[in-house]
Amino acid sequence: MPLDLARLAPRTTAAREESNAAPKLRTAVLGAGMLGIDLARRLIGSASLDTPLVAGREGSSGLRQAARMGCVISTSGIRAVLDAHVDIVFDASSAEAHPAHWAELASADVMLIDLTPSSGGTMVAPTVNGFRVETHRHLSLVSCGGQAVLPVLNVVAKHSTVNYVEVVTTVASASIGPATRNNLDEYVATTGYAVRRLTDAATTKVLATISPALPAPAFRAQITALADGINRDALIAGVESVASAVRAFAPGYEVTALGVSGDRITATVTVAARGGCLPAFAGNVEIINAAAVTLAEGYANSRRA
Ligand SMILES: NC(=O)c1ccc[n+]([C@@H]2O[C@H](COP(=O)([O-])OP(=O)(O)OC[C@H]3O[C@@H](n4cnc5c(N)ncnc54)[C@H](OP(=O)(O)O)[C@@H]3O)[C@@H](O)[C@H]2O)c1
Repeated sequence: MPLDLARLAPRTTAAREESNAAPKLRTAVLGAGMLGIDLARRLIGSASLDTPLVAGREGSSGLRQAARMGCVISTSGIRAVLDAHVDIVFDASSAEAHPAHWAELASADVMLIDLTPSSGGTMVAPTVNGFRVETHRHLSLVSCGGQAVLPVLNVVAKHSTVNYVEVVTTVASASIGPATRNNLDEYVATTGYAVRRLTDAATTKVLATISPALPAPAFRAQITALADGINRDALIAGVESVASAVRAFAPGYEVTALGVSGDRITATVTVAARGGCLPAFAGNVEIINAAAVTLAEGYANSRRA
């Protein structure tokens, strides 16, 4: 069942005024690092989600920045989140910490959106998955690479029989924190699992490069797929259409070099950060945080309707 994009689409003035009158949903962000601080900044700008509690741990230096942005902060991590009785929790800490966070929150009336590659929840990308987010309480956003390639691979799988998929991502070193570096194995495993589940390919390969080059390179994902029965025209039109749908929440999303030759399909996805205070090369942060806020706002709008 396709995701109900209507609930994610821009709302009419009347609907917006009505929804602005309803109380915003309360939010919390676990982790005050590269991802968590950008996410908090995006939530502060949301019409349907409240300024988040940002919960880190003792010594988390990003908490000072969150406080300067106007967020309530805590060094007590998940304990502070439980005490705050929020509606939506975003986990931007680490893949190791996430299972304990879900264990604590599973019996609370809360939606948990996991931005770490721990792969515990229902995997979702806004333009791909077919379900109404409000029926799920534990969402996994897979990874930044997953958010970049799954929309394209969903179209590829609809218009061919996929045998093999290779995804090679490049991120700038300056756009990732220590937890991302520590979670590289989880990134490869979770992204590969999501690609296999979506495409039914017998074999998948995910490779990741962290580039220290200067100037910092843009976030990029190179897709190669081997497939039978390719409907070339439908595939190309479908990719153009889904790229436009992703741009509705991540405006720097582009699919270039889309090609079909024999049984080989190739595409390059680049994401430039256009929102918030991120440098343009940090599209990896933008694509997953923009997806998280889009899904949360869709959930909030359905709750507030
Ligand atoms: N950066 C990206 O492009 C990106 C994209 C998609 C997904 N991710 C995933 O998102 C996660 C965070 O990445 P990042 O780049 O933001 O890393 P980061 O800069 O190291 O941020 C992680 C933050 O979480 C805090 N933390 C760790 N365990 C915690 C716990 N149990 N409770 C509360 N806070 C905790 C850390 O505290 P300290 O400051 O004390 O260490 C740090 O502030 C990783 O799992 C990564 O794989 C990252």
